[in-house]
Amino acid sequence: NFEKMNITKIKKAKNIKKLTMITAYDALFAKLFEKIADMILVGDSLNMSFAGKPDTLSATLEQMIYHTNAVCAGAPQAFVILDMPFGTYINKDEALKNAVEVYAKTNAAAIKIEGGEDKAEIIKHLTSNSIAVMGHIGLMPQYVRSEGGYKVRGKTKEDEEQLIKDALAVQNAGAFAIVVEGVLSSVAKKITEAVKIPVIGIGAGNVTDGQVLVWSDMLGFFEEFKPKFVRKYLEGATLVKQAVEQYKSDVQSQAFPAKDEEY
Ligand code: KIV
Ligand code: NA
Repeated sequence: NFEKMNITKIKKAKNIKKLTMITAYDALFAKLFEKIADMILVGDSLNMSFAGKPDTLSATLEQMIYHTNAVCAGAPQAFVILDMPFGTYINKDEALKNAVEVYAKTNAAAIKIEGGEDKAEIIKHLTSNSIAVMGHIGLMPQYVRSEGGYKVRGKTKEDEEQLIKDALAVQNAGAFAIVVEGVLSSVAKKITEAVKIPVIGIGAGNVTDGQVLVWSDMLGFFEEFKPKFVRKYLEGATLVKQAVEQYKSDVQSQAFPAKDEEY
């Protein structure tokens, strides 16, 4: 019962069905997720999980375009979103120039931008020039250095009010959906009720219009630490290591290759 998504269907899903988003960085995994997930995000989280960097800030547009092309090639039916990396939307003109480059060089259906009220004008400029934009508010990993760490949001009345203002500003700037990350579930509920566009949560409870997880976290390939909000649906790292150990042992014992695996 796979239905290829578009902006209209995503917006209409609010209050009707929960949306499932997952990240992907390459064709192989994107193909596995293609007919299951409603949206595939080529997250700048790939800078950490694939490029081994300590945060997302050094990801480049070139890198995001390369991975998005791989994802689109593997999952041509998927609704693919390219996560605009840090520094590529510092003002309206830069943002539009870079977004146009994304549309010219990839089949991404949309881009994602971190920021609330502070980015509303930029988002407005993009959407009024026919770029589909997904917002991202709450805990924003691209702000990690300026904020001095990753902090759960919405813990004070002021912060709660700011988050609602951010969500409304992003919606009013024309975004078709918003990621809300690392926010108290009670606040995520208020944000979800305040806007007409779908809110996709991560670390924001089950009160939002959908969820997003980083594939390598939810499939258990990332072993360094497990944030509280991640559910491991597979022991990926353990299974892979067991398989490679088995391969090694078969090589050493000459059990691999067997007779029917030779020419
Ligand atoms: O980069 C990413 O994977 C993301 C999601 C966690 C929303 O931005
Ligand atoms: Na991201």
